[in-house]
Formats: sequence, C-alpha cells, structure tokens
Amino acid sequence: MESSRGADVLILGGCGHVGLPLGLAFADSGLAVTLCDLNQAAVDKVNAGVMPHAEPGATEVLGRTLESGRLLATTDPSSIRSAEHVVIVIGTPVDEHLNPDPQAVVSAIEAIADHLVDGQILILRSTVFPGVTRMVERLVERLGKDVDVAFCPERIAEGKAMEELYSLPQIVAARTPRAIARSSELFKSLTKTIVTVEPEEAELAKLFTNSYRYIKFAAANQLYMMANDYGVDYERIRMAVIEDYPRAADLPGPGFAAGPCLLKDTMQLAAFNNNNFALGQASMQINEGLPLYMVSKMAARYDLDTMTVGILGMAFKGESDDNRSSLSYKLKRVLKVRAADVLTSDPYVETDANLVPLDVVVDQADLLVIGAPHKLYATLDVRQPVVDIWNIRGNGVVL
Ligand SMILES: NC(=O)c1ccc[n+]([C@@H]2O[C@H](COP(=O)([O-])OP(=O)(O)OC[C@H]3O[C@@H](n4cnc5c(N)ncnc54)[C@H](O)[C@@H]3O)[C@@H](O)[C@H]2O)c1
Repeated sequence: MESSRGADVLILGGCGHVGLPLGLAFADSGLAVTLCDLNQAAVDKVNAGVMPHAEPGATEVLGRTLESGRLLATTDPSSIRSAEHVVIVIGTPVDEHLNPDPQAVVSAIEAIADHLVDGQILILRSTVFPGVTRMVERLVERLGKDVDVAFCPERIAEGKAMEELYSLPQIVAARTPRAIARSSELFKSLTKTIVTVEPEEAELAKLFTNSYRYIKFAAANQLYMMANDYGVDYERIRMAVIEDYPRAADLPGPGFAAGPCLLKDTMQLAAFNNNNFALGQASMQINEGLPLYMVSKMAARYDLDTMTVGILGMAFKGESDDNRSSLSYKLKRVLKVRAADVLTSDPYVETDANLVPLDVVVDQADLLVIGAPHKLYATLDVRQPVVDIWNIRGNGVVL
C-alpha cells in the first residue's frame, strides 16, 4: 500500500511482535504512525483491522486507531521520508551456530539510507549486539545525514505488551542531549519513567535483562531435576521456600524457557564476551536439556515405544500463538525417536500444518504432555496420565 502522508513515527518492522504493539500504543496516544514492514500479508491484515499475531487488548486499539486515520501499514520504504521519528524493530536472531549478526540492523538501515532525511531521529529498538549503536552512528556520519541516533530497547513480554508499554520504565540512550531529549519526549507519550544511560550501557542492560531471566529459569529447572531425581515434589519444596520469605519470592517453577529472545540474547552476550559466559552457557545446557530429561524420565516410567504421546501446547508460552523457538518442538523431535507416535495440538498456533484438534489427541494418545501451559489444559478431563511439569493441573511436578 502506498503511503504519502507525513507521520510522527515510522516503525520499520512495524507489523512484528514488538513493532505492532508499539505502533498501536503511539497511535492511541494521538501520534500519526506508519508501520513499514516487508511482510505484505501482515501489512494487509493490519490495514484490514486484523492482528497478524495474538496480543491481548491490541485488536480494539487497532480498530480505533485505523478508524481515527492515525495508523497506516505499508511495505513502501519511501514512507520513511515524511516521518519525524524512525524506529527500527526488525528481528535480530542468532544464526544456526548461535552467533549474532551485528550487521543485521546496520544493513537494514543502509538499505533505507536513501529515504532518511535531515532532521529525523533514528531510534534503534531491536535487541542489538553491543556496539551496534556506535556502528549506526558511524553509518549516519558516512552518509552525511543530519540524523540523530538513539537506542531505546524494548523490554515488554509478549502477551503483556498493551499493559507493559505504559507501565515499564523506558531506557533511553544517546550520545547527544538533543537525541536524548527527542527520544525521551517520544516515550513520555507512553510511560512516565525514563531512565537515561549511555548507549553501550543500554545495549548491555537489555542483554542482561534477558540473560538474567534465562539464568533464573535454569536455576529453577536444575533444582527441579534434582528434587525429581530424589523422588520429591519440587513444587512442595518451592512453596515451603517462598512462603512469607521475600528473599526467595522470585524462585520460578520448572518449565520450558524458550521463545525468540531469552536463549538468543544469552548467546549474544556469550559471543560478545568471547564465548566466556559460563553461567549463560550452563543455563542453555539446563534449559535446552529439559525436554530430553523429561523424555528419559517418561521412558523409565512408561513403555513409550508402544505408546502414542500427545503434546498439548506448541507455543513457547501459555496463552500465546507464537511457536518461534518453542521447546515443545524439541520435545516432539525427541519423542518421535522414543514413542510409537506423537500427536501435537495447540488452539492458538496457526503456523503449523501438522497440528491436530485437541479431541483427536485426547482420543488417540496413551499419554499426554503439557508443552505450553494454556489455561484450558488445567481442567481438561482426560482418562490418560498427564505429564505436567508446569503444575497447571495442581497435581505436583513429580515425573
Ligand atoms: N518478541 C518479544 O517479546 C521481544 C521483546 C523485546 C525485544 N524484542 C526484540 O525486538 C526485535 C523484534 O522482535 P520481534 O519478536 O518483533 O520480531 P518479529 O519477527 O515478530 O518482527 C520483526 C518484523 O520486522 C519485519 N522486517 C524484517 N526486516 C525488515 C526490513 N528490512 N524492513 C522492514 N521490515 C522488516 C519482519 O517482516 C517482521 O514483521 C528483536 O530484536 C527482538 O529481540 C522482542
């Protein structure tokens, strides 16, 4: 779709999981927003008032901001010219060797360089390898453009975007007072707390945020395996530990620490530190090993090679349709080797042609495993045993 109108904010990657909620929030705050994205199908959906992925609370904001004329999605990069703020939120995945690509954001900006005009501010919001903000500043200098550069990382959790964009403090980083003032002003339209640091500090702050969370999940998963191997219920221990004991209140339950960010950002940090990140790498070993541990325990208890196993929930977390980097798929792969058959189901995921309806899985499986803790599985009335390390069914997590 062509876009000729001026915008307060243009978001490159604007129809993605992070870009779209952000664009909706800006438009709902009264700003004119253009969402520029390579994904034509997502652009068409957005312009038709349909969310390309689930995000609670977003559909109604999409409807009212489209109706107000303050939101428009396009694949046309020339729309960048007429925007004051250009926000970059393209994906920054690691490759098959778990290496980040520090050039990804820089190359995307190089590709739109002809459309950048003097007076704009370029706000990096993708999670970047440390040093990328500096690389972008150098690129802008090389291009001879009078364009400010800032790095303002996104820290929302998918599924909570439409709350957290307003409630979380916004980290703002830039080299010049003008860039700090402009990006702070923009984000003040969403949140009252702005935290200002240097670009290198902000880059590490974002990676530390996700790595720390990943390490916490690994700690819980290892303690779970330890308790489970000893034949006791980790959940009962966890409840005893946290009751009226604030110092341990954040001890998580066991579960798959997966999705497009936590492992990826821990690996970015490892690569940044010359592969010297023992805690992060140990966390990967534990979190990525959990599906294998589960299958080994299931094999010890059940005659798996004669059984059909059903996995309930293929998204990477509960109530989500996002199956990117979901450990339910690793569980499926491992089970395929050990079990007679594996069936998978998820009421939200739309991007997997191999899924079967829930009633088929419940009818045909001899054993069920909760892959993603969608609420509907908590009270599902079934005849076969259910492996539920998330404890959503409240029966403990002994496996
Ligand atoms: N998903 C999360 O919960 C989350 C949270 C915080 C930060 N982040 C970070 O935000 C960034 C984006 O993540 P995401 O989950 O939204 O990814 P995503 O894949 O859902 O969205 C990225 C979007 O960018 C588009 N795109 C890619 N290259 C483009 C280009 N050159 N021009 C225009 N559009 C382009 C894609 O079509 C896609 O729609 C990543 O760096 C990620 O680490 C993600």
